[in-house]
Amino acid sequence: MTQRKATILIVDDEVRSLESLERNLADEFDVKTAATTAEAEQILADHWVQIILCDQRMPDKSGVEFLTEVREKWPDVIRIVISGYTDAGDIITGLNEAGIYHYVTKPWHPEKLVLTLRNAVSMFDLQRQNELLAIELRLSGKAARKKVSDGRQKLRQQYDFDDGIVRGKSSPMNAVCDTLRQVAPYDISVLITGASGTGKELAARAIHYNSLRWNKAFAVRKCGSLRSEVLESELFGHSKGAVAGAMYDHAGLFERAFGGTVLLDEVCDLPPAFQVKLLRVLQDGEYRPIGSNQTRKLDVRVLVSSDKDLEEEVRNGRFRKDLYFRLAGVTVHLPALSERREDIPLLANYLLKTAIEKIGKEAAGFSAEALSCMKRYSWPGNVSEMRNEIERMLVMGEPNGLLGADLLSAKVLMATSPGTEDDMQILGSASGTLKERIEAIEARLLRETLIRHRWNKSKASRELGLSRVGLRGKMQRYHLEKKEEHDDAEAVQGGK
Ligand SMILES: Nc1ncnc2c1ncn2[C@@H]1O[C@H](COP(=O)(O)OP(=O)(O)OP(=O)(O)O)[C@@H](O)[C@H]1O
Ligand SMILES: [Mg+2]
Repeated sequence: MTQRKATILIVDDEVRSLESLERNLADEFDVKTAATTAEAEQILADHWVQIILCDQRMPDKSGVEFLTEVREKWPDVIRIVISGYTDAGDIITGLNEAGIYHYVTKPWHPEKLVLTLRNAVSMFDLQRQNELLAIELRLSGKAARKKVSDGRQKLRQQYDFDDGIVRGKSSPMNAVCDTLRQVAPYDISVLITGASGTGKELAARAIHYNSLRWNKAFAVRKCGSLRSEVLESELFGHSKGAVAGAMYDHAGLFERAFGGTVLLDEVCDLPPAFQVKLLRVLQDGEYRPIGSNQTRKLDVRVLVSSDKDLEEEVRNGRFRKDLYFRLAGVTVHLPALSERREDIPLLANYLLKTAIEKIGKEAAGFSAEALSCMKRYSWPGNVSEMRNEIERMLVMGEPNGLLGADLLSAKVLMATSPGTEDDMQILGSASGTLKERIEAIEARLLRETLIRHRWNKSKASRELGLSRVGLRGKMQRYHLEKKEEHDDAEAVQGGK
């Protein structure tokens, strides 16, 4: 029996690049091409596309913008963007928004590209089998079940507490992981709190993959700003004709993840009407899809996460107290990155390794100066912000080179000591005379400019409108000096 080829959609407004991509891929994949995003949307609506390969530069919108829209409408399609290094700065922050699986740089290498696409196809299969086809899977043959359980076994290793959640020896994350490990095996509900980007979803996955449900589906649903009816249809499902435009029965997340775990993210934003419905479902252990007269058994572990203080929401009457007690069987709070600075170099190294795999460009690690700047910065966007910063550094840096502090963005370079991140904060909170406060800012500006110019005094003094002698004087006054090269020996090695 021949296996059906995976369908790949290539979107590029330049006919010549469309043709050359098609020529290289047509042997192995069923290739569809579109010269505009409108054409691409039509193809996505009419065909079962597994992978979309989109050029970044297009006349009506950028590749990343288009792929962000694709993610909304066809979340299962694996998204890959192709672009030149020169576009990197513009797109890097959009990469995570669009949930990009891989970033292919031009000129692309035909064999490497085919390899990337093959991996993307297996990723598609795994993701689909793991998260979306739980129902079909229960009905499918033994062989398919074995394949999926092997795939899940791999995922399980990824979320092992000792590898998956990176942290230092005396990091407060150790206590968090101990709690996660303790609660994982029991079917209780867990509320995971923490600021944006602190790893709430990662913690939820770790609970799932270390629970008895680990070989069933894990699914995430963001609840923020969704109406009660939409949430009801998303989680409980609906029958044909029960909601406007519903041409088929729709299995809700609780059904698709039967036997597994569901994470309700941004749970504090659940509309009051839905809070009542969810509470009833959790109490009764059953639910009814919209428009159906049959109830279904609820067999999912519900985890919830929030970056707001849910107790405070209860006190203010915005969240039902009874639902809060149902959901917060145990509460786990993830500390901000600024409260666990010892994790910063370890995380930087780990995130570089994952960025190298994602972007497909090598780097030798970070310079000691880059790491010490990262350690000083307060990372208000936590690990997610750091991941973006590192992906950008990797793209902008020399291939195979050491990533130096000059590649860091100004906000990171400007941070002088823990707890002070922006100028307004210094102005508002620093104690001392006016002269002392102005000097503190002057020292930060000098340091940032020097690092950006790799300690080249001529360039820095020119930019700042100072004489070289003047700059040297100020450097002495503020004890600013380049850390010597031997510091690089301590650089954390990334990659390989
Ligand atoms: N301790 C850690 N070790 C390794 N990776 C981490 C760690 N913490 C977070 N990450 C990574 O950082 C990114 C952000 O984490 P995650 O999505 O879990 O955070 P979040 O709190 O859910 O964020 P948001 O509030 O934005 O939804 C992910 O790529 C995650 O894998
Ligand atoms: Mg999250």
